Amino acid sequence: MKERLQAMLDTARGAVSEVESEKSLQDVRVHYLGKKGEMTSIMKSMGGLSPEERPIVGALANQVKEELEQLIEARQGDIRQVEIARRLKEETIDVTLPGRRRFAGSKHPITLVTEEIVEIFSSLGFGVAEGPEIEKDFYNFEALNIPKDHPARDMQDTFYVSDDIVLRTHTSPVQIRTMLNQPPPVRIIAPGTVYRRDSDITHSPMFHQIEGFLVDHKITFGDLKGILTTFINCFFGENVGVRFRPSFFPFTEPSAEVDIQCVICGGKGCRVCKNSGWLEILGSGMIDPEVFKSVNYDPEVYSGFAFGMGLERVAMLKYGVNDLRLFFENDIRFLRQF
Ligand code: DAH
Repeated sequence: MKERLQAMLDTARGAVSEVESEKSLQDVRVHYLGKKGEMTSIMKSMGGLSPEERPIVGALANQVKEELEQLIEARQGDIRQVEIARRLKEETIDVTLPGRRRFAGSKHPITLVTEEIVEIFSSLGFGVAEGPEIEKDFYNFEALNIPKDHPARDMQDTFYVSDDIVLRTHTSPVQIRTMLNQPPPVRIIAPGTVYRRDSDITHSPMFHQIEGFLVDHKITFGDLKGILTTFINCFFGENVGVRFRPSFFPFTEPSAEVDIQCVICGGKGCRVCKNSGWLEILGSGMIDPEVFKSVNYDPEVYSGFAFGMGLERVAMLKYGVNDLRLFFENDIRFLRQF
């Protein structure tokens, strides 16, 4: 019996000194001192001892039990010390490390080009106007000389809210709203969001345009060319070539599309300009007398010009962005570059 107790104490001592964590120390405690542990089973077998032996072995058993408890407690203290030392070492704060940087927000490239264009036209005497994105058929089409059965309606894949209401397909309806509200002279630019049922690498169902128009006595195509050339030289550079090409829009007559010399290849021909050396950037023309009639301006007294351009397109050309979708994905790695 005594030997059994001694042997148990020896193996327990070994086990206690080997454990490295509080969890496994707890397992060792249960194994030796728990209700179903070795100590209990030795105590139970004491019933077979003679009355003389019993107190002696009993005292020894108590001694062994006490010693074991002390061993475990001491080991627990050691383990905790080691753990504290480890955490102190690993979790120290290095006060010399630089702090985490907070990035300041920046303006979206579309906002940047809008602001720059508004700035240029402001310096030429233009004011800014806005109109609703949910628009009446009348302002978006009818008053702009695009009647219901006009083929030009197919040019602009329209989102219809109802028979009579659309998501505006261009910023041109702001012309109508402005002119109905005030007599000439008018000099306005109107930036805004527009919508078309169109979605691929170069088209987004939601995009941005800026409209401009000027009406007064004796406004000529020369004024149109002068203002737009001035704008292009301010925005794209003093030396960039500009070309006016005949075109058609229902709300202008005559109409012209304006091209600039390719900003990528300088006019030599490349993939971006499809080897033509030119890039189309806007539509324009002299405001059609039919439009003047729908806003009660007298076409015999007044004349004017108008133009409209896509802001994503000019932003792509100005910043050398090759995929329209980047403007709408809000990837911070893209936006941070502006
Ligand atoms: N509204 C036309 C479009 O979205 C662009 C445009 C062309 C506007 C000629 C004009 C203009 O004011 O005169 O395609």
